[in-house]
Amino acid sequence: MNNYLKTQINEIKKTKTISKAQLECILLCEDEEIIEYLYSTAREVSDRIFGKAVYLRGLIEFTNFCKNNCYYCGIRQGNLNADRYRLTEEEILSCCDNGEKLGFKTFVLQGGEDPYFTDERICSIVEKIKDNHPSCAVTLSIGEKPYESYKKYFDAGADRYLLRHETANPTHYSKLHPETMILDNRKRCLYDLKNIGFQVGCGIMVGSPYQEIDHIYEDIVFMQDLEPHMIGIGPFIAHKDTPFKEWSNGSVERTLRILAVLRILFPKVLLPATTALGTADTMGREKGILAGANVLMPNLSPVNVRKKYLLYDGKICTGEEAAECNRCLRKRIEKIGYYIDDSRGDHPDKSA
Ligand code: 5AD
Ligand code: FES
Repeated sequence: MNNYLKTQINEIKKTKTISKAQLECILLCEDEEIIEYLYSTAREVSDRIFGKAVYLRGLIEFTNFCKNNCYYCGIRQGNLNADRYRLTEEEILSCCDNGEKLGFKTFVLQGGEDPYFTDERICSIVEKIKDNHPSCAVTLSIGEKPYESYKKYFDAGADRYLLRHETANPTHYSKLHPETMILDNRKRCLYDLKNIGFQVGCGIMVGSPYQEIDHIYEDIVFMQDLEPHMIGIGPFIAHKDTPFKEWSNGSVERTLRILAVLRILFPKVLLPATTALGTADTMGREKGILAGANVLMPNLSPVNVRKKYLLYDGKICTGEEAAECNRCLRKRIEKIGYYIDDSRGDHPDKSA
């Protein structure tokens, strides 16, 4: 049995395809040696493409207003306990200045779906960041928009866009979202973004309510079709003011296994060891990198708003200044034999 599953892992690596049965075996496996083999295979693949480099993305959480009501998310419109804030353009620009001093070459502007930030406002912010920091990449993570809006952001200079699809299965999707949100539209957004020329990131939460292994398999099939440049995955973590407050958190172990499988299937993809993973386990981000992840997304938001951008309970690094996290992360990464690469960290097929 042992050798059988190791052969299967080799086969997945060789063919870059996985069957539902193989995924199931990997996720249900209780043999630690096999799982260690899975992780070391993922590391080997990652090493071949990226060496020991880990890339940084500076996250700027610029608004926690959101018109949506996703059942899992702490900043959903229906959460009346959320203390809402918006950063001004000046504040956002000053986060970027601070970030560049700390060595960041990518800024991720993330927010709820906040109608205050019209296309014009977003474009103006993107243009100013690109003027001030011409060698940096700008990533947007602001949700579902029409094609025309995405096109405007791209023309204003945005390089990348993150939009987790959350689940590729429509029934599962409808259990995580109110009926005003439609999976097909989310998928349409991702394909639009790719067609426009963005480097695109999709992703899921591991252990989200009602998630089954079959759904995770459908996620992989979807990703194989989309061919994203980045895949963001982290464990689901319950938030006390959401309809899913009673649900248990997603498994760190399962998240790591899925990270490893994704690394083996998509050797060149950018794969963050997420803050949620670091929240669910103090060593989660390190474990993620040792399972094939190669990106970290530390927070550049001003400390006075950090505790307000809570998608889930217990989020780490909400009291630390950006400079502190920067120092801390560099040390942590070096401890496990990796280093922070100070380049933009584009997808290998996108580099100039
Ligand atoms: N636990 C973990 N991740 C969450 N996200 C939202 N709410 C939670 C939660 N409770 C993730 C979603 C979203 C991303 C920005 O954060 O996948 O796309
Ligand atoms: Fe924020 Fe360690 S990364 S304190």
